[in-house]
Formats: sequence, structure tokens, C-alpha cells
Amino acid sequence: MTVRRLGSPTADIRDARRLFPATANRAYFNTAAVGLASGRFAETYHRFIDEWATAGLDFPRAERSAENARSAVARLMGADASDFALIPSVSSAAGLVAAQLGQARPGDNVVIGQREYSSNHFPWRQLVDKGYDVRQVPFRNGGLEPEDVGERINPSTKLVAFSGVQSATGHRSDISAISHLARNVGAIVFVDGSQLVGALPVAHELPRVDVLVAPDHKFLLNAGRGMGYCYLSPAVQRRFTPDQRRLEGRRGAIGQLLRPRDDAVNYRVPFRQLDQLARRNGQRVRAYDLRRLRARDHLRAQSRAHDHTPGCPG
Ligand SMILES: Cc1ncc(COP(=O)(O)O)c(C=O)c1O
Repeated sequence: MTVRRLGSPTADIRDARRLFPATANRAYFNTAAVGLASGRFAETYHRFIDEWATAGLDFPRAERSAENARSAVARLMGADASDFALIPSVSSAAGLVAAQLGQARPGDNVVIGQREYSSNHFPWRQLVDKGYDVRQVPFRNGGLEPEDVGERINPSTKLVAFSGVQSATGHRSDISAISHLARNVGAIVFVDGSQLVGALPVAHELPRVDVLVAPDHKFLLNAGRGMGYCYLSPAVQRRFTPDQRRLEGRRGAIGQLLRPRDDAVNYRVPFRQLDQLARRNGQRVRAYDLRRLRARDHLRAQSRAHDHTPGCPG
């Protein structure tokens, strides 16, 4: 199939529609809830499941596919793949970030939207249990207006969380203005990009956010569930402490909380040699096992450095 490059002067919406079989006989307006599967996506999915059923799961290949997905989204968003972690959902990423906030000191607070989508609301509400004042900004014009956010931020604000685009109303946040207010007091800027990433360019916003999350199944047009992307700014990568052992994104942002940046390069050499040896004996070595060991050792070292004992480091 020849498809003209979308976005080029000769782009034709009919070329795009042909990629999505469901649009042959309907107009589809529900991407904000869940995107359509393209024909190519469906073929790949079928092939993968067939191979799994007939020959078993090729784990390293599946891992490489995840790396490819991470790189593709990083390119789309205009950032380095190593600054992205794969996440199962927006709520889990919010929960991981919330877990990074320690016990509150008197006055410490976080600022969130009163009517945000639940995934970007309840993980922060639970910070009350750690002593935070969870300040909820009432919606105006369908979302958060910077002046209303500014009224609730003070030097003890540790995080400001909001959606780039509100799912219920389509309100588009002024990321730049809100980020400016938050960063003035050193607060983490958490943006839920579920209704933004894939629909609008975000590269120019990245320098203004610390965490930007997006699930795969909306405007990124991967109809699967349980997969998403989490951009972490270099500043928060330095600031966050590991408290999870098995996180998606071993070679990406949250993965770097477990391992130093160059570790991914280091393991390749011994792995290749081991793999060659094993293949001579008709066996295979799984890259995952080596990475897992290194991740565990790094986590232990990091945990010791931060005087922190994870529940199950091994
Ligand atoms: C604004 C917004 N955030 C998050 C999500 C998804 O959150 P999760 O990945 O936690 O299910 C959606 C849609 O489902 C959404 O519209």
C-alpha cells in the first residue's frame, strides 16, 4: 500500500482513513476515549499471538518491541527515549510520583484540579495521609486557570498536577503559565497528557514539565490497554529515589532510578559473549536475567545510599 506522508502538502485524509479499516463505513469521533486499531496494528497483534501460541513467547523480542515503542513516542514528543519510562496507566505513574513525596513538613501542600480525571486526582488526594494539605483548584472555563492555581501556590507547594487538555471539557491548560508559578517555588510540574499527546505537538512544552504522562490507547492510536509513557525531566530523575524494583522502562527514565545511565551499554558486551557461548551449545541466554540482576544490585546500592529499605529488593 502506498501512503502519502501525512502532514505533507499533498496529504489526503482518505489516505489516513485507509489505514483504519473501521473508517470504511463510519466516521469515528471517539479517539479521546479510545483510538481505533489500524490494519497494520491488527496484523502485528495477530502474528504475535499466533507465534506465542505455536512457538512460545520470544521474551527478548517482546522487550525490543517495547523499546521500539518507547523510541517512537520519544521521537513524536521530541525528547530522548532514555527520558521515558513505560507505564501501565496514568494513575500508576501518578501513584509512583506521589510515592516519591516523603512525610510532609508543616505547611507542605500539593495543588491539583478539583474536577480532574480520577487518575490524576485520587493518587494526590491520598497524600493527606502523609500530612500534605491537598489544595483543590475549582474549575473555571472547564479547567484550571493560572490565576486560580497561583492563589493556592506558596513556598511550601511541592507539586502541581493538572491535565494538558481536560477530558470532560476540552479545556486546554496554559502549561507555560502554570509551570512558571510552580517552578518559582520549586514544585514538581505533573501534566496528564492523555488528551494532548498524539493530538498536538508537545516538544515545546517539555522544558516546562517535570512529568508528562500519556496512555497508549487514545491519540497514540494503539488500541491496547495497560501501556503508556512517562516523560521525566532530567531534574526529577536526579531527585527521585528508587522504591520499586520491577518497573517497566529498565532502559528509560524510571529504569534509570534503578540503574545508572551507562548500565544498558555495559551489559551488552557480556550478554553477547554469553549468548554466543550458549548458542554453540544450542541454548539461549535471556538478556532480561542479566539486566534484572544489575537492576537489583543498583537498587540495593541506591537504597543504602538513601537509608531506605525496599520491601522486596531481590
Ligand atoms: C485526562 C485523562 N487522564 C487519564 C486517563 C486514563 O487514565 P488511566 O491510564 O489511569 O486509566 C484518561 C482516559 O481514560 C483521561 O481522559
